Amino acid sequence: MRRFAILALVLAASVGCKEEKVAKPQANHAVRIATVDSNAVHTNGAVDTVTYPEGPEGIAARRGFAILAATRDSLPDYVGNGLRCFSCHLDNGRRPNAIPLTGVYARYPSYSARDGRVLTIQDRVNNCFRRSLAGRNVPTDSREMHDIVTYLALISRGIAVGAHVPGQGLPTMPPLSGDTARGVAIFAASCTRCHGVNGAGIPPATAVWGPRSYSVGASLARVERAASFIRHNMPFDSAGVLTNQQAYDVAAYIVSQSRPNSRGIEGDWPDGGAPSDVPYNTKGHAAFNPPKHLSAPGF
Ligand code: HEC
Ligand code: HEC
Repeated sequence: MRRFAILALVLAASVGCKEEKVAKPQANHAVRIATVDSNAVHTNGAVDTVTYPEGPEGIAARRGFAILAATRDSLPDYVGNGLRCFSCHLDNGRRPNAIPLTGVYARYPSYSARDGRVLTIQDRVNNCFRRSLAGRNVPTDSREMHDIVTYLALISRGIAVGAHVPGQGLPTMPPLSGDTARGVAIFAASCTRCHGVNGAGIPPATAVWGPRSYSVGASLARVERAASFIRHNMPFDSAGVLTNQQAYDVAAYIVSQSRPNSRGIEGDWPDGGAPSDVPYNTKGHAAFNPPKHLSAPGF
């Protein structure tokens, strides 16, 4: 088991040339880093190009990378669906226009209108654990959060605080409206061969709706955010072939499907001003095309 853990980490890191002594996961955090699957390296076609420093910092950053690459296997108690961080932060968090994580450490603390407060980098990571991974907060003082942040800090080195990185986030889309009927046809033609007719995902592709997908409180549950992700990154092997309108249509179809619920999201945008496509009620905002059925918040 231990040998696998080391091997998997080295594979995931792709630059490890010798076995590192990796400390045993602490029992109180119930972490299994052992199963970094091969998809962590293959799926996105990217090789991790990080140069890891020797010593404890390098070991922590490699563990952080492994958690981002195989999130559910690493932290089963904190992930409620079948996604991993790199399911959306593509190419190991390096792809422009796919929410790159490069430089992200230098972008926090930062004010979030959705939260109505300043978020630390740990808060932001946990937003994705709760919403995009339909899970729960990883304790900010845990070794696992420390490992994730060490990796994020390492890939942010040399980027000035507050600097804008090319391709940061997801480009804002022109305001179009999506047509779910057209979206059904586009999904069948361009997406089912990887994501399945039922949207559940054929590995290594992941679920785009249903209990194994991101929750209703995730940014990708908004049609404009989903359209931008799809327009710039999908189909995975031929990104860029869809028009803005087609991206909206297929996004409208996907976000209309059932997905895990998120707790407490009615408190989002506490000062008002929610974007019009948020699919749940918040202060002064009525849900836009909420999914037909929300699965129970079981996690
Ligand atoms: C379902 C897709 C998805 C998954 C899975 C996901 N994220 Fe995100 N993440 C997003 C989106 C979308 C945004 C940005 C939203 C926006 O700017 O509109 C984001 C933003 C972030 C940011 C802030 C980026 C910035 O430039 O400010 C961090 C940090 C982050 N995610 C970390 C993670 C980590 C760590 C994981 C795994 C534990 C994860 N994400 C999993 C979709 C995802
Ligand atoms: C060639 C296979 C392939 C095709 C075709 C494809 N995808 Fe993907 N998609 C992937 C892979 C691989 C990932 C990333 C999964 C991972 O690395 O964990 C992904 C991720 C996603 C995600 C973010 C993660 C999630 O599961 O929600 C969305 C949304 C998505 N695809 C939508 C689409 C849409 C819409 C289409 C059709 C326009 C499409 N994809 C076509 C392979 C594909």
